[in-house]
Amino acid sequence: MSNDPLVVFTPSGKRGRFPSGTPVLTAARQLGVDLDSVCGGRGICSRCQITPSYGEFPKHGVTVEAGALSEWNAVEERYKTKRGLKEGRRLGCQACIESDVVIDVPPESQVHRQVVRKRAEARQITMDPAVKLFYVAVTEPDMHDPSGDFQRLKDALAAQWQLEDVQIDLTVLTGLQPKLRKGNWQVTCAVHIGGTPRVVEVWPGFREEPIFGLAVDLGSTTIAAHLCDLQSGEVVASSGLMNPQIRFGEDLMSRVSYSMMNPGGAAEMTAAVREGMNALFGEICTEAGIVRADILDMVLVCNPVMHHLFLGIDPFELGQAPFALATSDALNLTAREVGLELHPSARLYLLPCIAGHVGADAAAVALSEAPDKSEDLLLVVDVGTNAEILLGNTTKVLACSSPTGPAFEGAQISAGQRAAPGAIERVEIDPATKEPRFRVIGSDLWSDDPGFARATERTGITGICGSGIIEMVAEMRLAGIVDASGLIGSPEQTGTERCILDGRTYSYLVWEKDDRRITVTNRDIREIQMAKAALYSGARLLMDKFGVDKVDRVVLAGAFGAHISPKHAMVLGMIPDAPLEKVTSAGNAAGTGARIALLNRAARGLVEATVRDIHKIETAIEPRFQEHFVNASAIPNAVEPFPILNSLVALPEVSFNQGGDTGGGGGGRRRRRG
Ligand code: FES
Repeated sequence: MSNDPLVVFTPSGKRGRFPSGTPVLTAARQLGVDLDSVCGGRGICSRCQITPSYGEFPKHGVTVEAGALSEWNAVEERYKTKRGLKEGRRLGCQACIESDVVIDVPPESQVHRQVVRKRAEARQITMDPAVKLFYVAVTEPDMHDPSGDFQRLKDALAAQWQLEDVQIDLTVLTGLQPKLRKGNWQVTCAVHIGGTPRVVEVWPGFREEPIFGLAVDLGSTTIAAHLCDLQSGEVVASSGLMNPQIRFGEDLMSRVSYSMMNPGGAAEMTAAVREGMNALFGEICTEAGIVRADILDMVLVCNPVMHHLFLGIDPFELGQAPFALATSDALNLTAREVGLELHPSARLYLLPCIAGHVGADAAAVALSEAPDKSEDLLLVVDVGTNAEILLGNTTKVLACSSPTGPAFEGAQISAGQRAAPGAIERVEIDPATKEPRFRVIGSDLWSDDPGFARATERTGITGICGSGIIEMVAEMRLAGIVDASGLIGSPEQTGTERCILDGRTYSYLVWEKDDRRITVTNRDIREIQMAKAALYSGARLLMDKFGVDKVDRVVLAGAFGAHISPKHAMVLGMIPDAPLEKVTSAGNAAGTGARIALLNRAARGLVEATVRDIHKIETAIEPRFQEHFVNASAIPNAVEPFPILNSLVALPEVSFNQGGDTGGGGGGRRRRRG
């Protein structure tokens, strides 16, 4: 056995013997230990920090003496004085192994460090972005060597970073020569390493500042963007914006119709969404204190209509059967070619679409929630203007989308509004007195708590947001104010003067002050019935195709999915009957999927493979969808028994048929596509 010193790395447990004087970074590289370096061991990036441990380590069979590593050197001292180095830390490229040693690699020094996701059950993201920084020393030109500056940069990247056959963007090539000279032949390159490596930016010397990427979820109603540090994985700023295309139509199909009926309509919508995104990126840069040129990569997820309109493809074919996409493949583009104002060479990756109505946002949800890795049968519902629904487990995954319309987002509801301070978000109705109590966004007090009026003085009580309307309708049903068909009863039928005549039907008065009042009209109930029926029917259709009558778990995703109360969603019959503790929320899962694809390039390949295996179900051509829709228009459902729900709550058996308007129950209109 060699007498060379033994080095043991933790937490990986990798170990090996190296000749005395070997830098820790070199040993780590040879053993395949995950130790970062941007400067290639020149003592400037500080990514290679390690912590040596001293003493007895019976577990590793090692005793580490005080002089196990070479002495603290001038490079480390300089770095510590300039930027600071935590107590006990050394630079792995400077400290050399002298005798047996145990070396800990702290999480921030690992190349593939894990980014913690907030939800306990969520998998972590392993850092491996598509754009990375590499610091290189380039050979100076020589009269006897006629090669170009880029050829020598290429050679340096190959020799020092094993990046073979690197290409360069013209925009970068045009500025390369002065940068090489300014940096005294030492430069930091940002290289896109998805496919053929490509230099996307060069800075003279060592670049201290981080580079950034954007994960963007382009929804029909809102655009949400997260700005991430491409080295730490940290989300440094998040911002959202209403999709400016709303002025052309609230939902997808009205935008498709707009493009069909107005020459140049699609191009107008393309320009609007790109302009909106550029404004959003400007805001996010200001918030983070960076400039657009610091953003070098972007991942975009969206539904198929948004996808086509964003790319400048007329969505005409998506408005009619068989709903053919121009392409369902993942796309690797530059941000500039689609009019986005980021770094001139910034890359843009669009996740693949699953089918004509199931887009890259659903693919992102699949990446984030991984139904294909679940042993339980998992139903994932991304609630938005269009609901993306996935059902599956390790055996197979099915997907569909369902046109829920914007009611869940508070639109088309008389007192509906976006989730903002002042909006009613929680509701309880006393089944005996039929009196409501509620909470508004911005205050933790209930409306019957002392101090509520004062607490809401600034925001006021402005309307009802999406999660609030779901609770409201469910509570009205539980209190016997609404019957199973969706009709609001009269004061005589319900025993409350809060039910007021409103044309031929009744409305429920939630709140009034001076001349302002918030009511829930029968029309509002119908809107919610249609939205929830569309959502449930999509889920039920997938259950039929899977050959099951129940699911093990339900995950509610979408910006407002996080705020939906599982009990109320089930009272409405929006989701299938399931144990309440098995209904959880995933927040913006599509956005999370985009963030995973931004920070981990292997995830891009993974989602492309997953999408190929997902079975797509087209709801528009499935006769059973219509049948489920009709049944699901009742609250909770005309035929499904909901045994778990019934064991938890007693749904009053009331019927308020007033002989006129039938309230839409049982025969509700359905938003048709195209
Ligand atoms: Fe850059 Fe050590 S590798 S400072």
